[in-house]
Formats: sequence, structure tokens, C-alpha cells
Amino acid sequence: MNTIQKSIFPTSTEASKNVAKEISLLIKTNNNAGKQTILGLATGSTPLELYKELVNIHKNQGLSFRNVITFNLDEYYPMNPEDRNSYVHFMNKHLFDYIDIDKDNIHIPDGSVSEDNIDEYCETYEQTIRACGGIDIQLLGIGRSGHVGFNEPGSTRLTRTRLVKLGQITRNDAAPMFSGVEHVPKQAITMGIRSILDTKKIYLLAWGKSKAAIVKKALTDKVTDKIPATFLQEHKNTTVFLDKEAASELVQEQLT
Ligand code: PGA
Repeated sequence: MNTIQKSIFPTSTEASKNVAKEISLLIKTNNNAGKQTILGLATGSTPLELYKELVNIHKNQGLSFRNVITFNLDEYYPMNPEDRNSYVHFMNKHLFDYIDIDKDNIHIPDGSVSEDNIDEYCETYEQTIRACGGIDIQLLGIGRSGHVGFNEPGSTRLTRTRLVKLGQITRNDAAPMFSGVEHVPKQAITMGIRSILDTKKIYLLAWGKSKAAIVKKALTDKVTDKIPATFLQEHKNTTVFLDKEAASELVQEQLT
């Protein structure tokens, strides 16, 4: 049954502040109980305001990330972690450099692992998540192809962390960052649909008119691997945070 909750805000800023509040509450509660918090993190333009707000909460309210463990969804392949287009660089620049997280608690798929070792590497990534007790909150953006993480159309509900080919829509959307589509890597390492559905709570975020059509499909189409985000309808604890524009193609009865 589709039990996705929708939470709609006038602007992405207000939505992001609310997501940040939810995350910080969980971290605070766990910190007070001497427990770790396991976060699944996403990259792209969507979570930027959220990360900014988490940094604010750390600075102004003293929220500590010492007991937080993070797993990023994906990384381009091949990709040198030092490259300015790597998701390692992105995460440091937008979040990790400004909070008190222990660098040993950060996990981002390694785009420099040799092709011979990728399967084993991906299996270890999954095992590390399991060894931490699973992900408490998984953040997701959504691509115009309907991907979550880099699970492009054709990704089944059984997929786990693996090497994938990137589709043309995704590579075109990334082209400005790479100064031309010809420089966008053709592959990526991504957590799978199964890895995402195994997480305890999911927050899918989408802003702007360009996401309205795919948001509507993700929330209301029949579940299909042609639109991997539809698999979220099978997850028991997913909330979609939208701004007005991203929600604009949903009609009234689809908003509740
Ligand atoms: P975006 O990408 O946040 O840059 O829109 C989202 C995604 O492709 O998952």
C-alpha cells in the first residue's frame, strides 16, 4: 500500500528547515541516550539548504555530530576523491568541514576503487551499513529520470550497492558541473533500491517546477522499475517534502 506522507511548504527554504529540525531532534535524542545516529546522505542541489541549516544548528544550538555515522548514496565512477566534482568534495564543502563529525564515521562510495574490486567493495559497503544497525534516516533527491541515488530506470527492487551506467537525462543534467556532457562520467557506484528500502525512515526532497512531473509519477504511478522512485510506495515510513512548485502537478486528493 502507498503510505507516503506528503509535507508541502511554500518554499524550499522552509521545507529544508523542517527537515533539518527533524534530523537534529533525532540526533539530540540519540546523543542524550548515548546512542549513535546513522544518516544516509544525498548530494545534488536539493539538500544544499538543508545542509546549511544543519551547520547553523551545530553552530548556534551546539548540536553535536560526534555520534553520527553517515553513508552517502552514491559517487561517480571513475572519480578521484580529490576531484572538485567528486561527492567527497561536495560533502566536505557543504557539510562535513563545518561540523564536529569524526572523519572515520563518514562513508562515501569510493570512485577510485579498481574495477576488479568493485563487487567486493560494494558488498563491504552494504555490510558496514548493516554492522551499524541500518540507516535511521535516508535523505533522497529525485532525478528527472525518476532515479533515486543513481538507480536509473531499469533498477529493480532487489538491487543493492553496485556499479551502474548513467542515463542520458542524468548525464545532461550534470553537464554544467563538468563543463560539458562529454566530461560527465558514464558510470557511478550507488546504493540500490533494496538498500534504500531497508532504511528505517526516508525523506525524499524535491523543489521547483522541473521536478513537478516526476514527483507526480513517483507518488501516483503504478510501482515500476521504469520509474525507480515509485518503489518508495513500498516503504512503510517515507515522507516527501515538497515546495509549492514541485507539488504543483498533484491534484487535491493526491495531496493527503
Ligand atoms: P538535484 O539532483 O538535487 O541536483 O536536482 C537530484 C538527483 O538527481 O537525485
